[in-house]
Amino acid sequence: MKTTQNTLQEILNSKEAHSIKEKKHLINTDSFSADEINCLMATARHLKQLSNDTNQFPLDLLKSSHVALAFYENSTRTKCSFNIAASNLGANVLDLNVDTSSSQKGENLIDTAATLIEMGVNAYIQRHSEEGVLNQMVSALGDSCSFINAGEGKQTHPTQALLDYFTMLDLVSSIENKKVTIVGDTKYSRVARSNARTLTKMGADVHVASPESLMADDLAELGVTLHTNLEEAIKDCHFIMALRIQFERQGEAQIIGKEAYIKNYQLNHSVIKSAKESVHVMHPGPVNRDLEITSELADDKNLSLIRQQVANGVFVRMAILALLLN
Ligand code: CP
Repeated sequence: MKTTQNTLQEILNSKEAHSIKEKKHLINTDSFSADEINCLMATARHLKQLSNDTNQFPLDLLKSSHVALAFYENSTRTKCSFNIAASNLGANVLDLNVDTSSSQKGENLIDTAATLIEMGVNAYIQRHSEEGVLNQMVSALGDSCSFINAGEGKQTHPTQALLDYFTMLDLVSSIENKKVTIVGDTKYSRVARSNARTLTKMGADVHVASPESLMADDLAELGVTLHTNLEEAIKDCHFIMALRIQFERQGEAQIIGKEAYIKNYQLNHSVIKSAKESVHVMHPGPVNRDLEITSELADDKNLSLIRQQVANGVFVRMAILALLLN
């Protein structure tokens, strides 16, 4: 009988796993084919199974590797999840505290990364508010280190989209033709853009519900259907994803007004009745409780996948590190 570890080794030796390893970096899910994304999902599924069956972590897949975390924007989920994922694979984790690093003396992003790479860092995981900086870093230093995007500007958050897709696959065997509706502040949301790109590639029917002032019009180019009416947007849908209102990007003054937002776009038990009976709600976190979603719905163990998203994030990030670095 095959052990789960044997099967994991078989996945890591597959054609798709080799093509992921050759990519070396994860900046955007656009550069991954549907087959490669499925290979990532299969790897994460096996790692999750391994954690359920036995208690074998840390594995020794990345035993002699050094993984650096460089977060120039706040994070709880992504940073801690990458930290645990790398530790579970046996890597040494270097958490660069940017508030006390030499970036405060004016050192630029490339020089900071180059310094850590000289010390032996194999993977550099970065979050930054400015779009495109990771591509510049790959151009300058990409031969000597894997770069992984932990959220950049308002365009890309690939590991969030992959863990969201993985969480949906816990409930449906395929996302093809399933209706997924993303609700809220899509205009400033890298989660919305990365999810829309990933889920449309995997065959989902993606819809968005946002007030005019918070609408990401650019998503229409991806084949996403845009709505300003929430009920119409979530009718018969399988998954509803609420987004955080990004006060830090837009300034509170620009929001349509909290009361109007709650009235027209807040997810609660009553509003989601027009979705499929089997609907589940998601949120990338952090949640502005009782604004985007009621606490009652966010904490409803039968309908909310928020906790599963967080738990699954570790296995998806383990899969990414294993496939890029193993
Ligand atoms: N979802 C997400 O990116 O959360 P953090 O900002 O806590 O990492």
